[in-house]
Amino acid sequence: MTKLLREEIPLNPHVAGLPPYSAGLNIAAAQKHSGLREIAALASNENPDGCSPKVAAALAGLNPARYCDPACTTLRAALGDKLGVPAERIVVGNGSDGMIAAVCRAILRPYATVATLCPDFGLHEIEALENGARAEKVAMRADLDFDIPAIVAMLARKPAIFFLSSPSNPVGPALDRDGLQRILSAVTPQTLLVLDGAYFEFTDDDTPGGLDALAQTDLSWVVLRTFSKAYGLAGLRVGYAVTSDLRLARAMTAAKIPFNVNAAAPAAALAALEDEAWMRASVAALKQERQRVSRIVAALGFRVAGSQTNFLFIDVGWDSRAALDHFLSKGIIIKPWKEAGYETFIRVTIGSASENDRFLEALRVLAKE
Ligand SMILES: Cc1ncc(COP(=O)(O)O)c(C=O)c1O
Repeated sequence: MTKLLREEIPLNPHVAGLPPYSAGLNIAAAQKHSGLREIAALASNENPDGCSPKVAAALAGLNPARYCDPACTTLRAALGDKLGVPAERIVVGNGSDGMIAAVCRAILRPYATVATLCPDFGLHEIEALENGARAEKVAMRADLDFDIPAIVAMLARKPAIFFLSSPSNPVGPALDRDGLQRILSAVTPQTLLVLDGAYFEFTDDDTPGGLDALAQTDLSWVVLRTFSKAYGLAGLRVGYAVTSDLRLARAMTAAKIPFNVNAAAPAAALAALEDEAWMRASVAALKQERQRVSRIVAALGFRVAGSQTNFLFIDVGWDSRAALDHFLSKGIIIKPWKEAGYETFIRVTIGSASENDRFLEALRVLAKE
């Protein structure tokens, strides 16, 4: 038998050609790069306030020797009560990332089309490509808002899935009632609409979360939510999908890895849900900070998109990689944008007031250059 050389193992071409996901720099790497100890980590939209103190108490009681409940039964029941949706239509995942992967695996066949926006959250496209689909992207408008007529025209081509983050990551605006309704009217039965609401808790009071409007339709849909942002549990990895029907929920459950939501994640999420007052206070303060920072950025002469999230998308007028180096030299991690048309944009998380002040001071230098 001839020995197979390692290079001859055929790789899945849909996966082998993809670059790894570009996550923001971590604090240790930024410390090494900048030589500074105090790092303002403003690239990954984490909550600078941490999480509810009730989470630590919930984690203290765990027995790591036992497998977790792969169905996350208690958390799904609590989410069902909160949202007024039967628990059987909710699937919990290893972050909402895990749910994006599961929905692609459950739906896509090779050469299907997945539609998303440009720019939008990268994983919508990456997971589609990994499953052999091709991605079609609808550009955001030049004034940094959703292009509803272009989305409606794309939906007439009946993609298998349409992924849309609202509020938009990285841009920031959220669909209003009229925009959402026009999209819902254009979705055909051949398309699964995935409304990714990772930043839903940061929206204005009158912004629709989508669940009510979607419940009035006969469409196939998934609404994604996460505990990573407003609830401050990014490191524990827990998100969920609310689905339009049981068939879809079952397919997504079959598509996900059984025990990948470890025991700590739903325990923490349950404790966080029981302390919504903590989350609401944190979100209210972050929204005020967002307004303050956004006003100063605009006053410095930079273009900044309207945001209903915990971050801002700013045209710094510099190549974004050079801007990243500039901020890193001051111990600040931001996310540089690299897609065509956005090479001078950065995305910066709203951190603590002192972190935001550090960012603004470093930004002032760019205004002067
Ligand atoms: C729009 C959007 N969707 C999903 C995610 C994934 O979040 P997680 O996997 O932490 O729930 C993110 C994370 O940044 C995001 O911005």
